Amino acid sequence: MSVDLLLKNGTVIVDGKETARSLGVKAGKIEAVYVVGNEPAAQETVDCSGLYVLPGAIDIHVHLRDLGQSNKEDYMTGTRAAAAGGVTTVVDMPNSDPPVLTSRVLEEKITSAQEKRFVNVGFYAGVPKKAADFDASITPNILGVKEYPHSPLVQGTRTGPQRALDCMRICFELDLPLLFHPDSSKPGAVPEDLNDFLALHSCDNEAKSIKLFLSAHSEIGGRLHVCHVSCESAARLIGEHRAEKSLTAEVTPHHLLLAGSDFIDSDGTAKVLPPLRTRQDSEWLRHALSGQCSIDCVVSDHAPHTDQEKLVPFLKAASGIPGLETLVPLMLTEVFDGRLPWVDYLRCCCSAPAWVLRIGNKGVLTKGYDADITVVQREETVIRGADFQSKARVTPFEGRRVLARPVMTFVGGELVYSYGKFMVGQGTAGRVPVRATR
Ligand code: DOR
Ligand code: ZN
Ligand code: ZN
Repeated sequence: MSVDLLLKNGTVIVDGKETARSLGVKAGKIEAVYVVGNEPAAQETVDCSGLYVLPGAIDIHVHLRDLGQSNKEDYMTGTRAAAAGGVTTVVDMPNSDPPVLTSRVLEEKITSAQEKRFVNVGFYAGVPKKAADFDASITPNILGVKEYPHSPLVQGTRTGPQRALDCMRICFELDLPLLFHPDSSKPGAVPEDLNDFLALHSCDNEAKSIKLFLSAHSEIGGRLHVCHVSCESAARLIGEHRAEKSLTAEVTPHHLLLAGSDFIDSDGTAKVLPPLRTRQDSEWLRHALSGQCSIDCVVSDHAPHTDQEKLVPFLKAASGIPGLETLVPLMLTEVFDGRLPWVDYLRCCCSAPAWVLRIGNKGVLTKGYDADITVVQREETVIRGADFQSKARVTPFEGRRVLARPVMTFVGGELVYSYGKFMVGQGTAGRVPVRATR
């Protein structure tokens, strides 16, 4: 039986080991992984000798802005950044302008993303100020609900014990995961200096927020997902409370690999929430991710801002950094440098993110799964923001050496990106919205 596409003689990870294999794709799905020499006939063959053939990364935490903030990013530039970065599915956060609190706004986002997409795009929604106003009709089009205690989507919302219970109950009843940004600082508080900023968004405040949601979770049940864990104390808390996989967590490459002390105090380029912490924190996060497995996935928290908003003194700078084009190169550098086993890379960047959001048929290269594939060259390069497809080009990883370069990205079996070029027009490849399998 012939296949549509054969990725021939690449390096595939089999039983955790680099193995020469060919990958067959039929009707947008993985057909089989073949021993080299045993391949069927193919309509099209791409020679992948010397290249790694991996599942595309699934980044379940991005801010693609669009609509009212398309000066920072839109679905075209954001999903191009994903494709160029080896990310084949992104899930877009609801803190856009306007925020996603109604199905009308979500429909607008879906329409825009359908027109502009280069990869698969899924969505989250927020909870209105009065939780009872949550629009349940939005459920089939979202993959989860997100709460921002420190920066609510509607001014004046206070995330205390009752609100945490209300959000948890909505999610339990609709079988959606509740995601939250763990920060119990007072919304709207204006820090006077760097120390004030760090005290406001401290590890204690992160842990306090996690405890609030853990308590709601233990009372109501359902699924709770902790966004961008940044401190040792927060990671320990999660490890201690993970009796079941109804509690999941994510970490970013910047919290894994950078510390606040790597930057001078006045530098706004690395300003992000949660802030970069200490070396000890990042070391513990790496242990929690691959040793202890108390953190499930790695996400970019791609949060684009304009140069004018970033290239200013720290206190004035906007929080957030672009990450779609650095996630895969940075994490694969951990693999190639021997600090992260292949199985952990595949779990935290590909299969676990799909599992956390119940995205079926994605995240592994197995028969019947979507042919979302990234082909990577092992090559030493340097991260340069100027090379990004994203509108946001100020990165705290500027000048950093990496050992991996995504060279080809396939979405649903279609070659979307190849060696710096886009091979399809906007709005042709990928699925919008990505839905959960129920
Ligand atoms: O630094 C951040 N930027 N942290 C967040 O939680 C939000 C994000 C943004 O939307 O800019
Ligand atoms: Zn956040
Ligand atoms: Zn975020």
